[in-house]
Amino acid sequence: MEVVDHLRQVSKLDLGRIALVPTMGALHQGHAELIRRAKQLSDSVLVSIFLNPLQFDDPADLEKYPRTPESDIAIALEAGAKVLWVPEHNEIYPGSIEKIDAGLVGSLYEGAMRKGHFEGVLAVVKRLFDLTNPTSAIFGEKDFQQLFLIKQLVANLDLDIEIVAVPTVRQANGLAISSRNVRLSPQDLKVALVISRALTNASQMQSVDQMAQVLNQILASEPGFKTEYAVIIDETDFSLATDATVRKRGLVAGWVNGVRLIDNIPMTGATR
Ligand code: PAJ
Repeated sequence: MEVVDHLRQVSKLDLGRIALVPTMGALHQGHAELIRRAKQLSDSVLVSIFLNPLQFDDPADLEKYPRTPESDIAIALEAGAKVLWVPEHNEIYPGSIEKIDAGLVGSLYEGAMRKGHFEGVLAVVKRLFDLTNPTSAIFGEKDFQQLFLIKQLVANLDLDIEIVAVPTVRQANGLAISSRNVRLSPQDLKVALVISRALTNASQMQSVDQMAQVLNQILASEPGFKTEYAVIIDETDFSLATDATVRKRGLVAGWVNGVRLIDNIPMTGATR
């Protein structure tokens, strides 16, 4: 694996079909799974690590974001990356920065809570696509709304890039793996388990009303968790689901001791 801080250091001709795995570093087993999936789809996996200031509405959040360069190299190597690219700000944003409108879905949920967040995500993802010219790009379902908006971007701009989604990687106890989990104490980690527990229980209900009720009840039963939103949506457009919705998903965001966490799972309903 080559570790480069500028793309001019790699000969793109040698890479063949590139699968791009964009990240912000602090790599964990979720990212590793994306890299392993990318390897199956391409000749070379290119992992980018760029802590994109444009998508942080709160400078303190950017400041507190974990930085673990040494273990990032070990994880990317072990998972099978060919190139680990850690660009500087100037390579990504050499001149004026054009944010990309994220549309209606971009204004909901994560977009409503974090103003300008998705416009910043789309701007950096488009720039990473332009610079690397990948055949495919791999993203996690962990950030379900982000995944939706990136697929929408590719469709709107008619880009010839396959967007591949990887299901959320979890700990054995159900907690979705996240770079932010390192900021949680052992006690906080126990509190955070309420999220996957609530989602899983809700997913087994028959009706959307019951799903929403169970989801909110279980979240509210944990005093250490502060719910920001907890909803059952239609995966096709992020409107609130009804019983007739074919693809429903539960989305949760909230706070555990000053750390913001998100998660989601498909709401498949009770198996009959
Ligand atoms: P980051 O949070 O580093 O995540 C990089 C990719 O890893 C995203 O596609 C995310 O959905 C995926 N991921 C994170 N945790 C995961 C888990 N537990 N299971 C599966 N996939 C997981 O998302 C970003 O960075 C940025 O917004 C980025 C797309 C890089 C643009 O800056």
